[in-house]
Amino acid sequence: MSEKTLVKLSTIQETMLIPLYGRAVETAKPRGVLHDPKAVEMVEAIDYDFAGLDANPHSLFACALRTAVLDEWVGAFLKEHPSGTVVEIGAGLNTRFERVDNGSVHWIDLDLPDSMALRRRFFEESGRRALVAASVLDDSWLDEVAKRPGPYFFVSEAVLVYLEEEQVRALVRRIGERFPGSRFALDTFGRTMVEFLGARDVARRAKVTMSWVCDDPADVERWEVGATLLESCNLAQLPAAVSKRLPTLYRVGWGLAGSGRNRDSYKLNLFALS
Ligand SMILES: C[S@@+](CC[C@H](N)C(=O)[O-])C[C@H]1O[C@@H](n2cnc3c(N)ncnc32)[C@H](O)[C@@H]1O
Repeated sequence: MSEKTLVKLSTIQETMLIPLYGRAVETAKPRGVLHDPKAVEMVEAIDYDFAGLDANPHSLFACALRTAVLDEWVGAFLKEHPSGTVVEIGAGLNTRFERVDNGSVHWIDLDLPDSMALRRRFFEESGRRALVAASVLDDSWLDEVAKRPGPYFFVSEAVLVYLEEEQVRALVRRIGERFPGSRFALDTFGRTMVEFLGARDVARRAKVTMSWVCDDPADVERWEVGATLLESCNLAQLPAAVSKRLPTLYRVGWGLAGSGRNRDSYKLNLFALS
């Protein structure tokens, strides 16, 4: 009998395996954009046909790149506020804490109860790090955040696309009202990207709907919920701190590959909330 951890297939749990594998594959490269030995460990421990994902190396690389950009923004926040609190919304099996921990940050990993049950197989709470099982649409987790010291940085990677636009709008407003002055890093998926990803096997099997289509992150500012767009980039125009980690040929090749129709349909965005 296999001693590996089983994942409930055809559920949202399955969607978190793609970025996990992307980080593991990147770690195996001699000059990967990130180093994530825990992701490698989890891939080895989970009973899943990861090799089936090898058919889409660009998607895996894109996952690693977006993680690296978000790590960079969280890292910059921690340089200014080493003992602030970071909230990873929809944490999945993300290992951001392991990658950016500075020894003093306070941290909350938040995810749906099902997903958190899987996460708890691999991660433990500590004095500075809590694992909270709740929907981001609930209010309870905001009280958990308030128990930790500010300032606050909220980050969500490939999560809000699964919510309705109205829900995202209410969420941004709620976080801003409760934690004015905080930062919120989130990614936006435009129409072409949602259609492209929705056609993929895992997305179809998981029967999860990518609902929040956002072609222009400045829309979030226009909602008038107190969000100001500080930075925004696509994966072909990475912040210098990330792109300099890529081998030159890779950087040029990726920039050219990224000039297709999907290029501006996926963006990483950093907002200030007031
Ligand atoms: C594609 S996975 C991304 C996981 C992780 N952010 C990463 O980059 O590896 C989507 C994650 O969003 C979580 N999620 C979806 N809806 C959610 C909700 N309403 N509240 C909290 N988490 C949610 C899922 O459980 C899953 O872990």
